[in-house]
Amino acid sequence: MFAKFLSIGAYTPKNVMDNKYFESIVETDDEWIYKRTGIKTRFKADDNQYTSDLGVEAAKVAIQRAGIDKKDIGMIICATISPDYLCMPSTACIISHKLGLKNIPAFDISAACSGFIYALSIAKAYVEAKVAKYVLIIGAEKLSSIVDYTDRSTCVLFGDGAGAAIIGTTTNEKEKIIDINISADGEFQDFLITPGCGSKNPCSQKVLDEHLQFMKMKGNETFKVAVKTLSNDVVELLSRNGISSDKIDHFIPHQANYRIIKAVGDTLNLHEKQIVLTVEKYGNTSSASIPMAINDIYESKRLKNGDLMLLDAFGGGLTWGSSLVYFAGN
Ligand code: ACO
Repeated sequence: MFAKFLSIGAYTPKNVMDNKYFESIVETDDEWIYKRTGIKTRFKADDNQYTSDLGVEAAKVAIQRAGIDKKDIGMIICATISPDYLCMPSTACIISHKLGLKNIPAFDISAACSGFIYALSIAKAYVEAKVAKYVLIIGAEKLSSIVDYTDRSTCVLFGDGAGAAIIGTTTNEKEKIIDINISADGEFQDFLITPGCGSKNPCSQKVLDEHLQFMKMKGNETFKVAVKTLSNDVVELLSRNGISSDKIDHFIPHQANYRIIKAVGDTLNLHEKQIVLTVEKYGNTSSASIPMAINDIYESKRLKNGDLMLLDAFGGGLTWGSSLVYFAGN
């Protein structure tokens, strides 16, 4: 019995923020943003639309495309760094309720941009242990709620959105999730951090005045570690499974920065056609970025049943992960 990646869904909020918009709120310009990051637009949820709402919309699509009865879902995992509520209840519980599901485990995981691959690894383990028949995994982010729109070094990078997948079971080797690497190193915990409103710096007027409730990033340091770690991670995953990079149909990396993706693609000798790029359109949507990218190639009919995907992510923590997965949907 193997776990399989049965379906994909995503949701993009309707409000577009283009680079011109950022020119009007901070000292920046389209040329700097596009050259340094590859981003042209990103999307923003409405004020009354929360992370769970984005996740629910993505989940509905994934459930419908899987062709399953939602009552057969045995677990819901939501990866997010922008939950509806800081501590509780979890966004996964809220999503579960909004989907009309009850009495199944539902929990959030916090692994920043690597969250979707972390969720995938947990789903794989539960499905293969026959604890759940289907697991719904979601990467959902309303990053606009934790972005400091006065900080030009971060605000231009991030967008809102959600992606979801149904993980099921198969006995067919050609449909399975082949392998997953996940890892972390807390030494670099301050590279990407929201310093305020946790137990270390509980919410106070001082915290708010100093904008500590927002994401801070050591961009340049993160960039260097990201390129090195991601490259090593995927090289190790491919070699452990005896798969050469020319066999990859779709390399679907976390969409943080075009230059990081290009550097890792070059290390793997990947052809442009193999690399999925959505950073230009969505910016960095953290845990939602990989499933949104998978959804893009699905909806543009580039993703076919049996295609081999290589997923690769890196984020705050620091955390990282990669996975070799056959797409088992239709
Ligand atoms: N517009 C214009 N100038 C800017 C802007 C902006 N929006 N932002 C920064 N600058 C300036 C800086 O102030 C600096 O100016 P200085 O030289 O006068 O000091 C200059 O541009 C260069 O800044 P750097 O930070 O060195 O720029 P860099 O080339 O590293 O690009 C970036 C910054 C895009 C953030 C890049 O470092 C990056 O992508 N880092 C990795 C991000 C990432 O992978 N994150 C992980 C996942 S995210 C998560 O987990 C939530």
